[in-house]
Amino acid sequence: MKKYRFEYFASCPSGLEDLLAKELNDLGAKLTVPVRGGVQFESFHEVALKAVLMSRLASRIFKFLYQFEVLNENDYYLQATDIKWKSLMDVTHTFRLTTIFGDLPFAREEFRNSQFANLKLKDAVVDYFRHHEGERPSVEKDFPDVSFLARIDRGTEKPYLATIMYDLCGDPLNQRGYRVSNTEAPVKENVAAGILKLVNWNPETEDLLDGMCGSGTFVIEAALMAGSIAPSYLKVEKHLNNPEYKPWTFLNYPWLTKDEHLLENFKIILKEITTSTQSGLEKLKSQKSRIWGNDLSEMNLYSAKENVRKAKLDQVIELTQVDARVINPNKNKTLFICNPPYGERLEYGEDEKLKSLYKGLGDHWKHNFKGHRAAIFTGNLEMLKVVGLKTTKRHILFNGDIECRLAEYSLY
Ligand SMILES: C[S@@+](CC[C@H](N)C(=O)[O-])C[C@H]1O[C@@H](n2cnc3c(N)ncnc32)[C@H](O)[C@@H]1O
Repeated sequence: MKKYRFEYFASCPSGLEDLLAKELNDLGAKLTVPVRGGVQFESFHEVALKAVLMSRLASRIFKFLYQFEVLNENDYYLQATDIKWKSLMDVTHTFRLTTIFGDLPFAREEFRNSQFANLKLKDAVVDYFRHHEGERPSVEKDFPDVSFLARIDRGTEKPYLATIMYDLCGDPLNQRGYRVSNTEAPVKENVAAGILKLVNWNPETEDLLDGMCGSGTFVIEAALMAGSIAPSYLKVEKHLNNPEYKPWTFLNYPWLTKDEHLLENFKIILKEITTSTQSGLEKLKSQKSRIWGNDLSEMNLYSAKENVRKAKLDQVIELTQVDARVINPNKNKTLFICNPPYGERLEYGEDEKLKSLYKGLGDHWKHNFKGHRAAIFTGNLEMLKVVGLKTTKRHILFNGDIECRLAEYSLY
């Protein structure tokens, strides 16, 4: 059985892998290799902690633990009972296991499906503890103390290869901790951050306007980036005020709790985040470029206001309620970003309404946004055709399961 020490995997929405590799390099990771849906990397443990607390683009960070070759489900169970689980968790911890299969084909008599394989792994953990400690830990799906990911791929000598990882996060990292209410179709926070990076938005030189801001995801991510505020700032503050609140599962792992040096470094990272949040929020109050969200719907704007307030950015982000097709820019260069309705439920007449919305935006930008930039993020590829403007760049990226396009326009 192979035991890992410094190998990690960061998952992210497809389309953001290269940007995530760069972000991880900037945090100090080595040997970053982008693959579909994430980045493998090697790093000191401190850097992995920084990635959990500071990455704007990652969905989760996993620490590789063990890898072994397996023949079939029963062999998976048997070999997994050889893992020293008590060095990874306490019997009093609740735990969650997820087994996923790699892309290559599986023989059905060897592995029925990933749920069944996962049951075998759970049995191995439970039987291990019963045998060694006389009692078993409980499974908890939603808020576990400890979370593992196992991945089974094709092997070389034996047919399959199982890799066991710690999920260092628990909840996905895109949950920043401010979202008090949901609008219909919010963009994921890490997708929004990735889009701002893909379009090279520079807060020093350009205002940001989200003309259809919904719950305010883009404007909040933009403000955090402009103030260099770590996306975990709200969770860090809550954890420091109440150490019983544990927003990341790594806080329960012997990997951290038994390593005094790492614990010291963790405290230093928390301090750094607290200090840079304070200075970032101050800096934002006096910053020249505007961060402005707008939406036509009173209800969605209400969500945006609540989210902005909870994110402590109400003195930084302006919110207005008008039709996006009548907004005009200030003198400053402006990036008009928007994520218009996609029309997931194509009710009668909705297609025509959407067409007139997308065309209206294009016409409005043509006449009133000369010298500025615009970008549309949408899951409705047909609608991009009716905008009627030449795109300067297009990117494919996923918001959850939906394949979306980001179209950029330079307006002359
Ligand atoms: C897909 S949602 C945007 C979600 C947003 N990106 C978020 O993360 O919450 C589309 C938004 O466009 C708004 N909208 C639709 N037509 C509009 C118009 N003509 N002017 C301004 N906003 C409009 C809707 O109210 C809705 O909030």
